[in-house]
Amino acid sequence: MQIPLSKPWITEEDVQAVEGVLITPYLSLGPKLEEFEEKIKEISKTKFAVAVNSGTSALHLIVRSLGIKDGDEVITTPFSFIASSNCILFERAKPVFVDITKATYNVDPDLIERKITEKTKAILGVDVFGQPADWDEILEIANKYNLVVVEDSCEAIGSEYKGKPTGSFGVAGAFAFYPNKQITTGEGGVIVTNDENIYKLSESMRNQGRGEDETWLYHTRLGYNYRISDINCALGISQLNRLNKIIEMRDAVAKMYSQKLSEVEEVITPYISPEVTRMSWFVYVIKLTEDFDRNKRDMVIEELEKRGIQTQNYFKAIHLQPFYVEQFGFEEGDFPVTEFVSERTIALPFFTIMTEKEIDYVVSNLKEVIYEVKKL
Ligand SMILES: Cc1ncc(COP(=O)(O)O)c(C=O)c1O
Repeated sequence: MQIPLSKPWITEEDVQAVEGVLITPYLSLGPKLEEFEEKIKEISKTKFAVAVNSGTSALHLIVRSLGIKDGDEVITTPFSFIASSNCILFERAKPVFVDITKATYNVDPDLIERKITEKTKAILGVDVFGQPADWDEILEIANKYNLVVVEDSCEAIGSEYKGKPTGSFGVAGAFAFYPNKQITTGEGGVIVTNDENIYKLSESMRNQGRGEDETWLYHTRLGYNYRISDINCALGISQLNRLNKIIEMRDAVAKMYSQKLSEVEEVITPYISPEVTRMSWFVYVIKLTEDFDRNKRDMVIEELEKRGIQTQNYFKAIHLQPFYVEQFGFEEGDFPVTEFVSERTIALPFFTIMTEKEIDYVVSNLKEVIYEVKKL
């Protein structure tokens, strides 16, 4: 059996939706863009949505719309996909990392205040693996120090924290739609916000800095080509039509994994905080117990690969990525919890249409491999 790490769920309806656009003249900036944005707004319960060509572009436009610039500091997590920190570098501001909690892998709110300086402008929180961050605590600190809050919810569309949807906690949020995500547009992302200024600036900057009423070759500000095509949006609309079902199916896969792994003492299954009232699973990440170091974890990954099971070491800590080490001088030991977790985590194969047979295959092989590696 060959089991991929992730796999998009594309139905006949999705195919028809895409084909439907191809026979119209509106392949970009057409009606599907607006329709997609309308649907997104219903999910995030925000006033505005601006769809773009990736989650990274969405984060960049948020940071830029906020006027974050050279010399500013932005507090964020080192345990994330690299784009959540790179978007700060794009504007030559400095990411200031705060370590995570061992339970949720989200930023530890108790450690934020000591990192705030006169240069701090924002807190960029991430809903890691689909689990919302501790938003009440983060917002309380932000209010106290007059900081803006940005939500990187690229991994968490449809999740809820205390009954409120992700994407809506900060002044703006971002979702992403690469094929490994809960729903996909092929490539794509979106900015959600209640702030009219961020909305207008993002809309202009995704389209080469054109102004609202101006013509094609008139550019009000520096912009980018971050447009998403109507072809992508049509796929997104069709996928969003079954978002609730997708979230339920992924939850069922996650529950099955947790139940089947509950007796494997070397495996710590994901912990979801009771404050998360709805979990939209992006990936299913287990943690090996303390006696497994990075080498042993990597051996488990390699051996599973040989058996046709694709896994991933989500996440390698951002501060230890080569160019962060070079630019900022970070070292091992700087963020101990992040490092401890990132040396022991393994994302197992996880996708909406995963069958119990596939889950059983992963679990039985994982058990065997763990016992073998443990003996070494
Ligand atoms: C936390 C996080 N932020 C940002 C991104 C960037 O999204 P994209 O790959 O669409 O640029 C991702 C996607 O992988 C992500 O997981």
